[in-house]
Amino acid sequence: MNRRQTIKTLAALSGGIAMSPQIKALELLLNDELKKSDFGNDFLWGVATAAYQIEGARNEDGKSDSVWDTFSHTKGKIKTGENADVTCDFYHRYESDLEILRQLNFDVFRFSLAWSRIIPTGIGKPNQKGIDFYHKVIDTCLEKGMQPWVTLYHWDLPQTLEDKGGWRNRDIINWFGEYVDVCTRAFGDKVKNWMVFNEPVAFTVLGYLLGIHAPGEKWFQNFFPAMHHTTMCHGVGGNIIRKNVKNAYIGSTFSCSSAHPARRNKKDEKVAAKLDALLNRLYIEPVLGMGYPVDGWKLLAKVEKYIKDGDEQQLKFDFDFIGIQNYTRIIAKYSPFIPFLWGNQIHPKKRDVQMTEMEWEVYPEGIYEQLKKFAAYDGVKKIIVTENGSAFPDKLEDNRVHDEKRVNFYKDYLKQVLRAKKEGVPVDGYLCWTMMDNFEWAEGYKPRFGLVYVDYETQRRIVKDSGYWWRDFLNQ
Ligand code: FCB
Repeated sequence: MNRRQTIKTLAALSGGIAMSPQIKALELLLNDELKKSDFGNDFLWGVATAAYQIEGARNEDGKSDSVWDTFSHTKGKIKTGENADVTCDFYHRYESDLEILRQLNFDVFRFSLAWSRIIPTGIGKPNQKGIDFYHKVIDTCLEKGMQPWVTLYHWDLPQTLEDKGGWRNRDIINWFGEYVDVCTRAFGDKVKNWMVFNEPVAFTVLGYLLGIHAPGEKWFQNFFPAMHHTTMCHGVGGNIIRKNVKNAYIGSTFSCSSAHPARRNKKDEKVAAKLDALLNRLYIEPVLGMGYPVDGWKLLAKVEKYIKDGDEQQLKFDFDFIGIQNYTRIIAKYSPFIPFLWGNQIHPKKRDVQMTEMEWEVYPEGIYEQLKKFAAYDGVKKIIVTENGSAFPDKLEDNRVHDEKRVNFYKDYLKQVLRAKKEGVPVDGYLCWTMMDNFEWAEGYKPRFGLVYVDYETQRRIVKDSGYWWRDFLNQ
């Protein structure tokens, strides 16, 4: 749906030909040129990245394999047959990459720590060389006037821990606690902004239920224990950061996608409610003390088997901020052929809507809807958009990449962020996904999400038009 259609639809929904004052205000907002100052002087602007997707240096300086090294080297797991042994080689190029980021005027660099670099055996002796690498990244950010924002876990569990059951093994609560303790003691003096997880839904659902991400496990008997132990680690991790880091600003990041019923009927609405419970409510609600969202999907009650006395207390945490990560939306429809869910999504291809290279619908209103939803929870104090972005087929022509679609994507999503902010949502920052093209998990290198184009043969970086758009936008 384009902007004009959206406004028309909203006008229709609001009940009439005569436009309400809210719709008029919305039309003005969406047609207006974006100004950085509209977001306020304290609003944070940055980019997000993840260790496995950009670092490379698979076995350098003592790093051991993570589940993603194993998975990407297993035949048939990555669509393109590729791996991230080298990827963007950020491990050796962090200085020049961070210099590009500074020149694009960003304030925040979000990156994740690779557990298998910091404690190669998963538990036990830390690896000083791994710790040194992240000190260098942090120091470079600070020297360049950018804030380092650290994600403790962006999906790359040490393989040695997966061999012991990984997230399914309840001992992971202690392993993770030890890892967080090591990281916060090592970097806590320099880093104040911490995120416990990147998208727990993604690594547990894709990795332990559907088997399409590492470690490639399937079915509910793997998913439910992984899910509960991950929830427990929200509380455990948050409390350790609080204890070890003075003046820490602590959050975690949650993927979210509006799930809309295809038709206004009970069956489609039920499928949409189930998907909403799984995709959007599953991890945020327990940490806020609301329990698992079994009212949305009764099946989730099966997690009870893994809950022990005292867990409900231990898994809660009072986060300073919540990170939301939004890319698309889901249109849900009843289907008698898909067990448990009894439904399916209607693929964007069948809906005549704009799609990205990931075949995700471009739906800017979705970020507004999710910001409103998350802000409505008691206990959510601040929100940062910790990821938002798009992959389009980029072409390198005369040393330029004219990625107009990506520029429009950012403009349209930002307008919806601003709309939520103007309506009182306490959203305080926005991080693009992502700094530069990189290894997009099971999709390999084909989808390019970066503001900077990477020529993987030569490791040359070429700032795309979207990167220049951000530079100018942030320079206002
Ligand atoms: C998010 C992930 C991130 C990246 C983007 C496209 O779900 O957190 O690593 O893959 O999707």
